Amino acid sequence: MATVNTDKLSSARFAQATDTFVEIFTASVNFDQRMALQDIEGSLAHAKMLCKIDILNDEELADIINGLNIIIKEIEQGEFNWSIKQEDVHMNIEARLTALIGIAGKKLHTGRSRNDQVATDIRLYLRSEIDVINMQLTRLQHAILDLAEKHAETIMPGFTHLQVAQPITFGHHLMAWYEMLCRDKERLDDCYKRINIMPLGAAALAGTSYPIDRHMTAELLGFSRPSNNSLDSVSDRDFAIEFTAAGSLIMMHLSRFSEELILWASAQFNFIDIPDAFCTGSSIMPQKKNPDVPELVRGKAGRVSGHLISLLMLMKGQPLAYNKDNQEDKEPLFDTADTLINSLRAFADMIPHITAKKDNMYNAAKQGFATATDLADYLVRKGMAFRDAHEIVGLAVRLGVDTQRDLSELSLEELQHFSSQIDQDVFDILKLEGSVAARKHIGGTAPETVRKAIKSARSQF
Ligand code: ARG
Repeated sequence: MATVNTDKLSSARFAQATDTFVEIFTASVNFDQRMALQDIEGSLAHAKMLCKIDILNDEELADIINGLNIIIKEIEQGEFNWSIKQEDVHMNIEARLTALIGIAGKKLHTGRSRNDQVATDIRLYLRSEIDVINMQLTRLQHAILDLAEKHAETIMPGFTHLQVAQPITFGHHLMAWYEMLCRDKERLDDCYKRINIMPLGAAALAGTSYPIDRHMTAELLGFSRPSNNSLDSVSDRDFAIEFTAAGSLIMMHLSRFSEELILWASAQFNFIDIPDAFCTGSSIMPQKKNPDVPELVRGKAGRVSGHLISLLMLMKGQPLAYNKDNQEDKEPLFDTADTLINSLRAFADMIPHITAKKDNMYNAAKQGFATATDLADYLVRKGMAFRDAHEIVGLAVRLGVDTQRDLSELSLEELQHFSSQIDQDVFDILKLEGSVAARKHIGGTAPETVRKAIKSARSQF
């Protein structure tokens, strides 16, 4: 008779113990223990359903509930003994439950498999991570709205090609970031809908012969419905890919945001001050104050995009249904959630303390002929075709470049040399204040429009 290996999962099937290195290589408990509470939540719902369909009696259910509650306490107090011999979070908890309550523990796995169990756990886990991410996104949005309100009238240059283009308000610029975060939230909400579907009941791949009540477990676990197809349920990781895709976009936004903060904090731009608490010094250059938080966040954006690619590659060659490959989904997902939460938190903490150097912003907007388009628009209002106006203003800018003066610094006489339709009132629109105030349509940079946009944004919460 073959020797029975008592440690090994499904031990009776195996005559040989697992190779020691293979045991370590295939185990996931070191990282998937992070889903322990979700695993227990799933088991509690499954056990209640098994009791309802008379697979477990009331006493067995009570034992399982008590045992799992003891395990929750052990985990919370750091007393739970995680063992690589039990491979993963699921087997560790089941083994401990059986050690605590005996036979009823051995009945818990009736009608389910680790394949539907792990898919359920990840979904429960991501649901709660999305709640935290959303909370941090909201904090950051509020911080942006507060700063935008302070700077609804603060004038700065707007850029295209990183060249001064047209004057804008700092509040308007901030509200562009706000909009990006709104879309990020929408994407997370949308992804949440597909996460919130319950695979439990698919068992290994083909469902189970027990008369399970999947509506009951779905309801107990707060899922919107049970999944439709057992094969798809255990193998699908689209929701994980969607989550990292939504996360990659969030990080891409934070990275662009970071890039601007870093540029603006430089001596060359000198538009903002990032408070000391969010910067560090150099070990060699005593004068340095480096914008570490935005730099790190810009760097971290790369790892989340990397996780998205990892998950896409993880799935692309897999036949139906579950394959062990899927164990590789967890670390990218956990790191994506951690990176998002930490980066958003750092930003939400930092933004309220950013100070704008208004004079520097204003002076920078005065350079680069930022109101040239306003002069062209002025001529159009006087009846000229836009292309002709564009040409004429080009000539005026050339005079400005040659004599090192802004358009507003040319005399009326000089301007009239380019077009007799130019009057004294041109100086109102050549001023930065006039230029921004004129853009008061929906989506424009005028202070009154920015205030309206902030008000409307606040009313959405
Ligand atoms: N630790 C596994 C995972 O993360 C759990 C499912 C294992 N299923 C199996 N048939 N080996 O995917």
